[in-house]
Amino acid sequence: MVDQHKVARYREFGGPDVIHVENEDIPNVGPREVVVEIRRSGINPLDVKTRAGAQNKPMPEGGIIPHTDAAGTIRRIGDDVDGLAEGQRVWVWGVGRPVGTAATFAVAPAERVAPLPDNASCDLGASLGIPAITAALCLSRYEDRVIEPSTHALAGRTVLVRGGGAVAHFTVQLAKLMGATVVASASPAKLDALIRAGAHHAVDRTSRNVDETLRGISPDGYDLIVDVSPATNMRSNIELAAFRATVAIYAREGGDSADVSFRILQAKNMTMRSIRTIDLPQDEMQLAADVVTWALEAGALNVGEDHGLPLHVFSLDKIADAHAAAESRDFHGKALLAL
Ligand SMILES: NC(=O)c1ccc[n+]([C@@H]2O[C@H](COP(=O)([O-])OP(=O)(O)OC[C@H]3O[C@@H](n4cnc5c(N)ncnc54)[C@H](OP(=O)(O)O)[C@@H]3O)[C@@H](O)[C@H]2O)c1
Repeated sequence: MVDQHKVARYREFGGPDVIHVENEDIPNVGPREVVVEIRRSGINPLDVKTRAGAQNKPMPEGGIIPHTDAAGTIRRIGDDVDGLAEGQRVWVWGVGRPVGTAATFAVAPAERVAPLPDNASCDLGASLGIPAITAALCLSRYEDRVIEPSTHALAGRTVLVRGGGAVAHFTVQLAKLMGATVVASASPAKLDALIRAGAHHAVDRTSRNVDETLRGISPDGYDLIVDVSPATNMRSNIELAAFRATVAIYAREGGDSADVSFRILQAKNMTMRSIRTIDLPQDEMQLAADVVTWALEAGALNVGEDHGLPLHVFSLDKIADAHAAAESRDFHGKALLAL
């Protein structure tokens, strides 16, 4: 292994141009850690929001190496690491700030690293991370937070997935593998992609009769609704919910509040859940990661234009362009760095 590697880092919050690529020594591995040679580093909305300073947290001394997700090969293993080996291909998810995956070599806690099955590319592995784990968490049973890695887990259920981004993409693919009828609702430009991802139906969320169309597809209502924009959709979610339905909220796109009827909520015995993956305890994230690995092994998770999630791959030197693309209004797909 060489001594030095390339690292992207920022020391102030701001636009994409605050990120600089530097040479520095390859990090040492500590107990319960591994060093991964990164092939692809995945970019999420969380990464661009953190870089812009939206987290309202102080800048750590030494700055931030961005990105929580990646895929690559383990090159060093620390003490007290079980089940992982040098040379093993892995996917990396939710590694904490300030040390992320936008580097040739990244240190990651071993508990945030999982083997990448032979049938899965590094493009796919680096796209998973927080979006796929969030998708799995949104599909867990509300009563006991269990997510069953089973093709019957959602059999007979109808799931409505709101939004057309990476989380929605993996929610569609996981829900379908679990046996659900999957209906997606997103902006018109994403509808074909959601069908390619595996949705049984895709409905234009901007059309005037969207609720009527959704009701026509599932007259008995939706058992689970996974929502990117509750401020926009919550009234409709409650109207369209089946008896004892769950609404799982994973983002606040489009607003922070909504005026809703508790009468219908109560009459339907509904459950509202909200998920912020990065704050959850490791054991809950691990359950979700295990479900993602199960779906990977089944070949049910896919990315790329043909599967509905176009990839936009940039070199490490072009990381500012990658961030600018990922945060642009009309962005669709997954931005990755190739290392
Ligand atoms: N809770 C968590 O732990 C967690 C984890 C991952 C992501 N997130 C958040 O979830 C959101 C999506 O993440 P992603 O990775 O899927 O991002 P993405 O791939 O960039 O997709 C963003 C999607 O958000 C939808 N959207 C944006 N503005 C909207 C609005 N005003 N009304 C309705 N939909 C809107 C769009 O759906 P249309 O196609 O319908 O326009 C778009 O496809 C981000 O806010 C992200 O920060 C949260």
